[in-house]
Amino acid sequence: MSKVRLAGISGSLRQASCNTAILRTLQERLPDDVELSLLPLDGLPLYNGDLEGSQLPPAVAEFKAAVQAADGIVLCTPEYNFGTSGVLKNALDWASRPANASPLKAKRVLIMSSSPAFTGGVRAQAQLREAFASTLSRVVSHPPVVIAGVHEKVKEGRLVDESNLQFALAAVAALVSEVRADRAE
Ligand code: FNR
Repeated sequence: MSKVRLAGISGSLRQASCNTAILRTLQERLPDDVELSLLPLDGLPLYNGDLEGSQLPPAVAEFKAAVQAADGIVLCTPEYNFGTSGVLKNALDWASRPANASPLKAKRVLIMSSSPAFTGGVRAQAQLREAFASTLSRVVSHPPVVIAGVHEKVKEGRLVDESNLQFALAAVAALVSEVRADRAE
C-alpha cells in the first residue's frame, strides 16, 4: 500500500505545548507507511482579506500548499475560554479560502484536544466541528480523542500515558483507513 501523508497542526505555539507534544509522540509511533509532518503556525499573519491578492504572504502560501498536499489533517488543540485557540482558528480561516473550493474542501480531518482540565478541551472540539462543516471538510468519525489532565501525561515533550496514546493512534488509524478508502486501495 502506498504511503499516507498527514499534516499535523497544533493549536498552541508554546515551546512546551502539550498539544504539540501529543502530535510529536504520534509522529514517532505511527506505522512506517504513515507519515505525519507538523505544520508550524508561527509565521502566519492574522487573516486579512486585503492580503489575498495575486500574491499571498509566503508563509500563507506555504501553509495552504502543505494542507492541499496532505492526504489528511491531524489537529490537536487546547481550549481557550471554551473555544479553540485564536492561532488555530486564524490558520483555518486562511486555509478555508476561497470558500467552497479551498484546500480544506473534502479533506479528511481528525480533531483531538487536550487540557489540564477534566474536560480535556472538548468544547474547543465542538467549535472546530462547526468550522469544518463550513469548509466542507470531512471530519473523521471516531470517538473523540479528548485528553484530560494532560499536564500529568506529558513528560519531556512526549505523551507518556500509554492508554491515551493508543486511543489517539486508533483515531489516526481510522483517518488513514478513510484516506485509503478514498483511494480505493
Ligand atoms: C486556558 N486554558 C483553558 N483550559 C480549559 O480546559 N478550558 C478553557 O476554557 C481554558 N481557557 C484558557 C484560556 C487561555 C487564554 C489560556 C492561556 C489557557 C488552559 C489551557 O488548556 C492550558 O494552558 C493548555 O495546557 C494549553 O495547551 P498547550 O499550550 O499546553 O498545548
